[in-house]
Amino acid sequence: GIEQCEIIEFPIIHDPRGNLTFVEGGHHIPFDIKRVYYLYDVPGGAQRGGHAHRNLHQVVIAMSGSFDIVLDDGTHKRRHHLNRSYYGLYIAPMMWREIDNFSSGSVCMVLASDIYDEADYFRNYNDFSAAALQLAKGLR
Ligand code: TYD
Repeated sequence: GIEQCEIIEFPIIHDPRGNLTFVEGGHHIPFDIKRVYYLYDVPGGAQRGGHAHRNLHQVVIAMSGSFDIVLDDGTHKRRHHLNRSYYGLYIAPMMWREIDNFSSGSVCMVLASDIYDEADYFRNYNDFSAAALQLAKGLR
């Protein structure tokens, strides 16, 4: 469910020459990172996401600027505002996401548990919510 999708705080090495944050596989990320991708040059007013993944785990980081991520597990919705590069939002599988409110020059970096696979996507919200409901029924 949506309660698994928490903000992860990464270490910060404060320095007058500029701060440093690091992300270590096995320590800060609850899966093995197999892919990194990033959204950039996003025009004002654009919306990304609009899909869910069957099995993929992700952590989203606002490397620069800010944006909002709305998560929806089929039952509950939550909006997160990301605006610091030392925070990451963990997104569990079976979570519909919309990303909007991109500030100009923002960079959205995503750490993912697997390489790209279109078969892992739900691109249709009704298909997703039906599958999420079935999953929830099976769990209780
Ligand atoms: P998509 O995941 O729908 O973008 P977003 O969720 O960020 O709005 O991907 C957009 C397109 O890019 C789609 O045609 C698939 C392709 N793509 C890859 O080829 N490899 C990748 O790692 C990703 C994330 C997308």
